[in-house]
Amino acid sequence: KTRLRRRFEEINEWAANYYNNLLLKSPEGEPGRHYFKQRGIDFETMNKFRLGYAPNRWDGLLEYMKTRGVQPHEVAEAGLALERGKPEKEGRQFYDRFRNRVLFSILDRRNQPIAFGGRVLDDSAPKYLNSPETTFFNKGHHLYGMHRAHQGIREEGYALLVEGYMDVIALQNAGYPNAVASLGTALTREQANLLKKYTRRVVLLYDSDDAGINAALRGGEILRDAGIQAEIITLKGAKDPDEFLKKHRREELDEFLKQAATFIEFKYRILTHNQPPRNILEKVELVHKLAPDVIKVVSPVEREGYERFLSLELGLTLEAIQREIKSLGQKNH
Ligand code: GTP
Ligand code: MN
Ligand code: MN
Ligand code: MN
Ligand code: MN
Repeated sequence: KTRLRRRFEEINEWAANYYNNLLLKSPEGEPGRHYFKQRGIDFETMNKFRLGYAPNRWDGLLEYMKTRGVQPHEVAEAGLALERGKPEKEGRQFYDRFRNRVLFSILDRRNQPIAFGGRVLDDSAPKYLNSPETTFFNKGHHLYGMHRAHQGIREEGYALLVEGYMDVIALQNAGYPNAVASLGTALTREQANLLKKYTRRVVLLYDSDDAGINAALRGGEILRDAGIQAEIITLKGAKDPDEFLKKHRREELDEFLKQAATFIEFKYRILTHNQPPRNILEKVELVHKLAPDVIKVVSPVEREGYERFLSLELGLTLEAIQREIKSLGQKNH
């Protein structure tokens, strides 16, 4: 480990403590406490996830860092401050990146803070602001909640992949220690490979809007290509798992989990909008759209399962489905 890497970790560690102490203890942290309280988050959770609050000031963190002997440019290099435009006379000037936001510490699996996600307290934009990418933090390589979920995933035998920080917290608190989220971007290959270290089975539980559905389709492909069995759940009556758990009991979420669809079944439902195809040509089109996915299935048993599924759904013989898919496979090779 290089000296710079150690410094990066030290600064993020001190920052996490600073923000967390403000949230838990300081009068200045009252807006943050109020925000989290209103979202059902208690003090124990604030500690467990090292949640924080960034004060409504330009130099709160910078001033604190000075007392620990950290120079402003070092805070900036750790992603936690920004430099003002070129002031010729006064020398370099910096200001805090996170101001008047509640903060989610992004911890690696050793519990070391390496970045933060900051949410506004109202509905202004941007809703979330994250630490920037640096030499030592690449958001596509990490998953939120992993500091606890690496254990949880092993215990449960699968990972529950969601969109948001609040979803991870709500789920882990409700007894799903295997919940993790990507850091505000589409799932990456590296994140899929990270999950694969712990499990071969991932259940996607994304938001129930169009963006969530599309992200689930894309995420399913990435997981499949990484050799992971992907299943997908679509919630009804809530826009995301956090909201669902505010309205419903955990047992009701378990019911959705039992109905998880495989990637191909999910894609079928999306392509058909849950309506039976209107005519023969629509049936053919469906087979053509799903063939590339069916062809990629390695297990012969699983593959025949999908072919049978299509045969039943479309009212066509298994042989016809198989011949069509096979000929499409040959055309593409
Ligand atoms: P809440 O409103 O706090 O419940 O957030 P949410 O997690 O439900 O938000 P949403 O479904 O809109 O987004 C899911 C995730 O995408 C968030 O947890 C963030 O990680 C990320 N995200 C959302 N909005 C933004 C944004 O404006 N900027 C960035 N960088 N990330 C965002
Ligand atoms: Mn969303
Ligand atoms: Mn939400
Ligand atoms: Mn959401
Ligand atoms: Mn209910």
